[in-house]
Amino acid sequence: MDVYELVRTKLETRDFSQKQVPDKIKLKILEAARFTQSGNNSQHWRFILLDKKDELDKLAEDSLYGKWVRNANFAIIVLTDPSLGYHKIDAGRAVQSMQLTAWGEGVASGVFVGVKDQELRKDFGIPANLAPTITVGFGYPARKVLGRKNRKQLSEIAFQHSFGSPLEIKNQL
Ligand SMILES: Cc1cc2nc3c(=O)[nH]c(=O)nc-3n(C[C@H](O)[C@H](O)[C@H](O)COP(=O)(O)O)c2cc1C
Repeated sequence: MDVYELVRTKLETRDFSQKQVPDKIKLKILEAARFTQSGNNSQHWRFILLDKKDELDKLAEDSLYGKWVRNANFAIIVLTDPSLGYHKIDAGRAVQSMQLTAWGEGVASGVFVGVKDQELRKDFGIPANLAPTITVGFGYPARKVLGRKNRKQLSEIAFQHSFGSPLEIKNQL
């Protein structure tokens, strides 16, 4: 799939099969994060790979809206430096790289942000100077990922020349 097709077809997945994702793919996903750009090329991010059942159970307990991660094959906690104004942008870009790389390998994923901060820090040894900004759960999907995305029309969100001025480009896709 080309990049556009990966973006177009990737749906957030929270229901995973028990099939193991090979280590080679986990590494490729982490490398995709590493190759992503960051503000000032500061690479302030750190990534914690969790791929043991008890780790995923703990992660689920420490999450507010990510209990589903218990059934993921593995997860990656993305830590960023909150003193940098752009740290969440960097986290989002790294996550997008990882999710699209995974999807290119047939591995689905979902993210969550809300966590019980102190518990998560204690369970996974997260240092005080880094924030657990976003976590991604990965795995082969339990069923075929099919479906339409619930998205606004392009005409509602994209303009040409000035805000509110309609696109002149005709849709040829
Ligand atoms: C910044 C951000 C935070 C999110 N937080 C959560 C979350 O805490 N728990 C969760 O289950 N999904 C979370 N999501 C997933 C969104 O709900 C999902 O991307 C959105 O519903 C679109 O899904 P779709 O691509 O399958 O249409 C989050 C997504 C983003 C980008």
